[in-house]
Amino acid sequence: MAGHIPPQFIDDLLTRVDIVDIVDARVPLKKAGKNLHACCPFHNEKTPSFTVSPDKQFYHCFGCGAHGTAVSFLMEYDQMSFPESIQELADSVGMTVPTTQSFSASPAKKNLYDLMDRVSQYYIQQLQTHPQRAIFLDYLKQRGLSAQVVEKFGIGMAPDGWDNVLKVFGTDEYNRKQLNEAGLLSSNDKGRTYDRFRNRLMFPIRDRRGRVIGFGGRVLDDSTPKYLNSPETPIFHKGSELYGLFQARKAHRKLDKVIIVEGYMDVIALADHGVTNAVATLGTATTPDHLRQLMRSSPEIIFCFDGDRAGREAAWRAAENALPMLGGNHQLKFMFLADGEDPDSVVQQYGQQGFNDLVADAKNYSDFFFDTLESQLDTSSMDGRARLVETAKPYLKHIPAGVYKDMLEQQLAERAQTSLSVLAKHLDKSPTTKPTTTKKYKPSNNTISPVRMAVTILLQHPELHTAVGVFDKIATLELPGIGILVKMLETLQQFPHLNTAALLERARDTEHEAHLQKLALQSLSLSSDELKHELAGMVQQLQQQAIELRHAYLVQKGLRNLTVEERQEIQLLNI
Ligand code: GTP
Ligand code: MN
Repeated sequence: MAGHIPPQFIDDLLTRVDIVDIVDARVPLKKAGKNLHACCPFHNEKTPSFTVSPDKQFYHCFGCGAHGTAVSFLMEYDQMSFPESIQELADSVGMTVPTTQSFSASPAKKNLYDLMDRVSQYYIQQLQTHPQRAIFLDYLKQRGLSAQVVEKFGIGMAPDGWDNVLKVFGTDEYNRKQLNEAGLLSSNDKGRTYDRFRNRLMFPIRDRRGRVIGFGGRVLDDSTPKYLNSPETPIFHKGSELYGLFQARKAHRKLDKVIIVEGYMDVIALADHGVTNAVATLGTATTPDHLRQLMRSSPEIIFCFDGDRAGREAAWRAAENALPMLGGNHQLKFMFLADGEDPDSVVQQYGQQGFNDLVADAKNYSDFFFDTLESQLDTSSMDGRARLVETAKPYLKHIPAGVYKDMLEQQLAERAQTSLSVLAKHLDKSPTTKPTTTKKYKPSNNTISPVRMAVTILLQHPELHTAVGVFDKIATLELPGIGILVKMLETLQQFPHLNTAALLERARDTEHEAHLQKLALQSLSLSSDELKHELAGMVQQLQQQAIELRHAYLVQKGLRNLTVEERQEIQLLNI
């Protein structure tokens, strides 16, 4: 995608946008010396470690490590795609994003959001005015839902009939095409087109930003399918959306925990009883994408499943999907309801406190993980315990290395009644031998290498590039990072006004991205003048080094063996 927006446009955009405005509009910032700070929106904390640097046009959280440019901030905080963030930033400063093919999709999507919003309003209005509304209102009452929660979740009704929405919104060919693209129509074999949702209670599905992107429609009786969902559309992707996340985020400035339940009705009934931090997947298993979103929203995620077999199986799938995301600052837990209950029935019966008591009793990830594995084995026998190790092995492989993984391994050793060293042998690693590293170039005295230092200074103070002299030979040096340094110097020669954020955006989706982001965070405790001096000195030193190496090479080749060009070159090198 990035390739479709000219990099120069992004450079330009990032010199006009101020990240402080962008962040401050969403997370109020306070001045703290040269920078601004706030409590981090990406993890839970009491003292502010989220810092925004107006100089670097960059944010960084010392607590959770979140960092990036204004573009990244919108992608993370508002859950926008890369092009959407660019569009939003451009809108904020009145710039027009150059339209290329991939970009023409954006206005079309905008129309779809708009249509979905109007249709949602229509369903709500039907619930207030339609002659048959009483059946729907009675149903809602019978399900125990308050008028407030019906309003809060925008519940509406699709009246009976084949063409209610078609008539109101499909007034011409273009509009009918839009309706179809939004997933609001169905058609039969004969090519007849009609409303997809008929005679159903309608639940608008909102994205994280609150835009209606799809619907779920429930029948009022026992007919099937009980729920009908919107199909996949350009704006609706079931596998990555969570029903209720928008409302949950709205209800809490910071979600200290979030509960994943199975159904729409569960989310709504819970919210009606004051449990306003529940979300539901849309009839799919919890995907890694869901988990990533939830981890951005809350430090604790609790999976709530029915106590029956299907519920346990779904829980295990969720546990498997979570493996690559374990560790870090997040806690994952599992809670199970009694057979035949769901969160809706539990909260209606036992109220907020009753439900929250169950939440408080949720099982830790590790307990659920090992208990589930053990439930299929006889761990009173040695054979059974050996099987436990073998069974756990393939799962543990997916967990990122770190304290959490170490602790799970320790727990496995305890449960298998063996020692960590025996276990380690079976987990394909030995704790006593360190991994052998091949000898590589290492900067002397353990100090930071000149190349790395030069890149860091340039990245953090791009304006200092003007102090750099000739650097045409340094690309020949076989030093780590020399490629980035040359590229950065060349880029700044061509576009002298780039700031840190623009340089970082140019590295987005390249192999250098992660490395540069790290360097952008390094603290440089020198004054601007000193940095300038350092940078100029280091590049000069590198250039000199390159010249000497080349000279030595040519000399060693022997004057007689040199080509005419090489003879000229050796004279020019002149050292
Ligand atoms: P109620 O019976 O109204 O309480 O529904 P529920 O929210 O308890 O739903 P249930 O536990 O039966 O199903 C959980 C979720 O699975 C629902 O919220 C839907 O997202 C999905 N689902 C259930 N039934 C169907 C169906 O027939 N078709 C589709 N596509 N999804 C369904
Ligand atoms: Mn239910």
